[in-house]
Amino acid sequence: SEAEKGAYPYYMLKEIDEQPGVMRNLIEHYIADDGSIKIDEKLLKGLNQAQRLYIVAAGTSYHAGLVGKELFERVTNTPTEVHVASEFAYNPPLLAERPFFIFLTQSGETADSRQVLSQVNEWGYPSLTITNVANSTLSREATYTLLLYAGPEIAVASTKAYTGQIALEAILAKAMGERKDIDKAKEFDVAKELTFVANGMQALVDGKAEIEEIAKDVLATTRNAFYIGRSIDYDIAQEAALKLKEVSYVQTEGFASGELKHGTIALIEKDTPVIAIITDEKTAKHTRSNTQEVLARGARVIYIASRQLAVAGDQIVLPEVHPLLTPLLAIIPCQLLAYYTSLQRGYDVDKPRNLAKSVTVE
Ligand code: G6P
Repeated sequence: SEAEKGAYPYYMLKEIDEQPGVMRNLIEHYIADDGSIKIDEKLLKGLNQAQRLYIVAAGTSYHAGLVGKELFERVTNTPTEVHVASEFAYNPPLLAERPFFIFLTQSGETADSRQVLSQVNEWGYPSLTITNVANSTLSREATYTLLLYAGPEIAVASTKAYTGQIALEAILAKAMGERKDIDKAKEFDVAKELTFVANGMQALVDGKAEIEEIAKDVLATTRNAFYIGRSIDYDIAQEAALKLKEVSYVQTEGFASGELKHGTIALIEKDTPVIAIITDEKTAKHTRSNTQEVLARGARVIYIASRQLAVAGDQIVLPEVHPLLTPLLAIIPCQLLAYYTSLQRGYDVDKPRNLAKSVTVE
């Protein structure tokens, strides 16, 4: 398997670099040349008949679900809940009358998610598994499956499965919303927008040397760090924090930036790294004012901002893409920061301590 890594020192870096290709594969598999979406009509009908969608997942896939909620609610007008599988398993919420379950899982084997699917099947509710592994348990046991076609993900820390899941959720939301005759869906040219995303991702991975410098400068020796944001940027912050902590062991929190002042800001000391994600137009100003609050307590703030929202001095500027798809770009520098911080600290990035690629026990 050394050979499969090719010139790459680690799978994680290879898989980060593969993400533009993952976007293009999804377009090719799911969108016809005329723009029509190639997803089973029965599945789309089932989803559109649901009163509420329940996304169930673990780890990074759960974070892809947080973004999925934004997509399904904004593009299809369907109320959507996102649940951590191990929580849902023993404490399910009160369900809507016509629920539809969406399982997000790279491996298709996560025990916590499998347990929830068994329960859902006992109840007799319809389900969809979005996974990277054909014929996996969660794929076989769900009513429907959509595959990510991302190629095997080997590094324990998930990267391309996260962006693949979000892109496929966007394609699915487009198809659902179009059939519901929702303007926002009809106007959303998902193939074109994902092509812009692929190009933007390429520009970001090509600029990895700059990210490496920031990792060296800001994260190499810190004990803790924060990612902050609001709305969709809070979703990104949570995944970004998980990436950094799992491969570099820097204690990192992904926090809703407006909530910091209600307690957690007490943790900010001189030079605590705070990385602010700013891709959401509605909340950009508010997150910037939250960064002033942590700057006043001595934090070192790094800004990751979309081009149209960036100001002079922002360290990482993201190419402009559709407002619903900004997580696909914003996560790339965060993955790279995690990767280079781990290298700086001398760890095996692909095999972080205490972790497994797929957790098949509850
Ligand atoms: C493990 C992995 C994580 C992954 C999670 C869910 O904890 O270390 O990277 O996100 O399982 O895995 P799944 O295969 O269900 O997406």
